[in-house]
Amino acid sequence: MYRTNYCGEITEKNIGENIIISGWVNSRRDHGGVVFFDMRDITGIVQVVFRIEEIEKDKLNFIEDLIKHNVKPEFVLKISGKVVKRSEESINPKMKTGKIEIVLKNLEVLNTSKPPVFDIENSQNVAEDTRLKYRFLDLRNPKMQEIFIKRSLFIEEVNKFLSNERFLYVETPILTKSTPEGARDYLVPSRVQNGMFYALPQSPQLFKQLLMISGFDRYYQIAKCFRDEDLRADRQPEFTQLDMELSFAIEEDIFDIIERMLAKTFSIFGININLPIKRLTYDEAMSRFGSDKPDTRFGMEISDATNIFLNTEFKVFRQILENKGKILGIKVDKGSSFSRKELDSLIEEAKILGAKGLLYGKYINGNFESPLTKFAKKEEIDALLKLFKAEDGDLILIVSDKEELAQKILGTIRGNLAKKLKLIPPNSFDFLWVYDFPMFEYSEEENRLVSKHHPFTMPSLENFDNLENLSIEEKLKIKSRSYDIIMNGVELGGGSIRIHDLNIQKKVFKLLNIKDEEAEEKFGFLLEALSYGAPPHAGIALGLDRLIMLCMELDSIRDVIAFPKTQKASCLLTDAPNVVSKVQLRDLGIQIKEKINFDKKD
Ligand code: AMO
Repeated sequence: MYRTNYCGEITEKNIGENIIISGWVNSRRDHGGVVFFDMRDITGIVQVVFRIEEIEKDKLNFIEDLIKHNVKPEFVLKISGKVVKRSEESINPKMKTGKIEIVLKNLEVLNTSKPPVFDIENSQNVAEDTRLKYRFLDLRNPKMQEIFIKRSLFIEEVNKFLSNERFLYVETPILTKSTPEGARDYLVPSRVQNGMFYALPQSPQLFKQLLMISGFDRYYQIAKCFRDEDLRADRQPEFTQLDMELSFAIEEDIFDIIERMLAKTFSIFGININLPIKRLTYDEAMSRFGSDKPDTRFGMEISDATNIFLNTEFKVFRQILENKGKILGIKVDKGSSFSRKELDSLIEEAKILGAKGLLYGKYINGNFESPLTKFAKKEEIDALLKLFKAEDGDLILIVSDKEELAQKILGTIRGNLAKKLKLIPPNSFDFLWVYDFPMFEYSEEENRLVSKHHPFTMPSLENFDNLENLSIEEKLKIKSRSYDIIMNGVELGGGSIRIHDLNIQKKVFKLLNIKDEEAEEKFGFLLEALSYGAPPHAGIALGLDRLIMLCMELDSIRDVIAFPKTQKASCLLTDAPNVVSKVQLRDLGIQIKEKINFDKKD
């Protein structure tokens, strides 16, 4: 028998009991003849004490020898001993098991260990590359283990909740067809059909729609998704979605299920959610916060000063107004203490974001100190101060440009300033639905309209006639029945009402300039299925990794994935991706002709 108890669960209730524990040596301290060491397992740490007088005489030499040579960090031991109360002065209130200790009676070495590459207790201060290479050690840290315990508990609660709500758990394929949804696909060559490729799913989107068409009514899955895209702190090439789809559902049904699910399951993280969750249209989110995923835990909202300057003589503003641009700004409370250097770096930041410039003005002792005073009339400045409700010591930042660009620039500056000025209260959690997104956006890269969500999203239109004749500007004004859920300024999930009508789906493909043959070739199976009695349906997917990251207030998505990839999409532990043998390539009919160095490509 390896254990009668887990290390972290031994309490005062066990005092007097003879117990057996197995685990790792966390640390060791020698105090003049008495050896103390901490034993660690998944539940926590407990102190063991070695006192010569407690060991049976005939075992003494043997145990003493074991203690000397084998009680070293990360050795795996089986310990038997007696639980005793610690003396008053040695109680450790910081430890769950701090009131007791185990007096050692016997010890068995289950395995030895090389000296660990880093101290497990302090692994979080070690360079990330080292942590990732030795992830199996890094994950021994109780803080890391806590993340995965919470992640597992969360999934358990979600399973319970959704199964009560009549959702069916269905798995969908990993080897599937390349149907790009925005990001680049990961491709897998076929051996049996040389020259052909599977793609790894970017999400189970089309399969979950097919399941609705199959009559499954309510589906969910903890689904692995793969996207070959640029990685950031909240993005991984391989990530997990909590993916859902519901038949005969509208927006309210989705909002209701998600809100009740989050309110119920977030108690695991000690987070209370006030229902209902706030809602903002996309247009409102953009005009007030300059972002479609605004952090509404702090103010600094955008104000529109365009009307103040309609008759301005200031050339820069005139030009913007002639091009139907906007003059927008934010007010930084007490921001007039910003130094010249800080203001210059804000201007630089705005320029990097695409602004032609950033105008600022400090309101100090009734004076507006700003380059703008040279060009603007007094009444314009007065109106500006009134609009922003400027008070002594405030700073006003203005960007004038095309509306969307000016909003986005101010939105980013707003977010960065909130971090810099510590405006976001710690331990605060904020939820928001953003809905009424535009159906399309213009992709400069591809020089065409692309779907803002995905092409299977229902447009918010009463009338689907004459769509072909719309100009690009008119198409960009069409809204879609899609929604995102935002947590603390991060997109936690997104979904939409789907198109269940074959003709509407075909029209949307046309609007996206997807030709009939291309639609048939890429999505023929969906179009076919839609023609066999597809029910109205809707769905949503939450990013599970992001969710855990946000709920546990971590900065990086890598912390919540057991074996994550680096910025360059490699796994430092296994060294993936790696070269494969010539035979493997030959079987696939693949020859590597030229390696493209993506570092050197723009
Ligand atoms: P979407 O593409 O918005 O929607 O993805 C849903 C959620 O998945 C998370 N996510 C990611 N998390 C980590 N790394 C990534 N690279 C990454 N990409 C996305 C985000 C995001 O909100 N099929 C649709 C959903 C639907 O319409 O039902 C979809 O995949 O949290």
